Amino acid sequence: MSEVYSADDLIGGGEIFSRLEPPARLGVFGDPVEHSKSPLFQNAALKAAGVKAQYVKIHVPREKASAAFRALPDAGFIGTNVTLPLKAEALASVDEADEYARRSGSVNTLAVQGEKLLGFNTDGPGLMRAIREEFFVDLRDLRVVLLGAGGGAGRAIAVQCAMESCERLVLVNRTLDKARALAAELAPSFRSDRLVGPIERLQVIGFEEDALREQLAHADLVINATSVGMQRTDAPLIPPSLFTPNLMVYDTVYAAGRSRLLEDAAAAGARCASGLSMLLHQGALSFEIWFNRPAPLEVMRKALLENS
Ligand code: ATR
Repeated sequence: MSEVYSADDLIGGGEIFSRLEPPARLGVFGDPVEHSKSPLFQNAALKAAGVKAQYVKIHVPREKASAAFRALPDAGFIGTNVTLPLKAEALASVDEADEYARRSGSVNTLAVQGEKLLGFNTDGPGLMRAIREEFFVDLRDLRVVLLGAGGGAGRAIAVQCAMESCERLVLVNRTLDKARALAAELAPSFRSDRLVGPIERLQVIGFEEDALREQLAHADLVINATSVGMQRTDAPLIPPSLFTPNLMVYDTVYAAGRSRLLEDAAAAGARCASGLSMLLHQGALSFEIWFNRPAPLEVMRKALLENS
């Protein structure tokens, strides 16, 4: 397990990072951050690209987030990734953010430009690449059922689906009001002449079996954005009998082995993939933002798979 640095190490000027060999110029901020797999594949990428810098974990509690972000230029950092629960704070701390970051309300990648902080979110574009790689299809051509549209991950995915104007999007959430508010925001992206049959392009439902069955009959891809299923002992998020062989199922959870949801989906003959590919691609996109060149994807994949 690699060392975890503190927000104070950064706020104090960051000398500790410059003294490392090679110096730390990139990192991941989070609370907790110990579990992050990003250093595994980002350090492999830096080495393969011949960049004399390393990527470290920095434990940043929410109350120190803004000061830690602002300390990045003086500490000589190129940028950082941001994980839970700091993605909204990161958006509030940057000087400029791209459209997807603004619409999703969160930043997972910061780039330092002089004294300025630029904010991006590579989660949605990372998911898009992961879906293409896993299932050989584009998100925009799919009818998507999104489980857990009420959290940060669900919102980010829903916004990506809207920006891609995918064929259909069904927001499934336990707390209906949250999904309804999100749907109202995304509705303009789904208002078009595009005909996909007699069924609405954007819908909101709860976790009721009948409603799910009806929606899954008009769906291609199911995405789980809840953390339910991380433990094999978790109750199923949706009844296993609802899965059919024509479905693709993507679980953003990346546990060792298959999640309960993927087990159930695979048993029904559906095509399945776990969130490892999204993790990999969001990281590769961050690398591309920092260095303005393609990421050594296969090196990163190998480092991730060897340690998963
Ligand atoms: P965040 O991603 O912002 O940390 P979260 O509280 O972890 O948010 O919740 C993520 C999503 O998982 C939400 O959509 C949440 O549903 P609610 O909006 O109704 O809270 C969903 N979720 C969490 N536990 C769930 C469960 N047992 N069954 C169904 N959905 C669940």
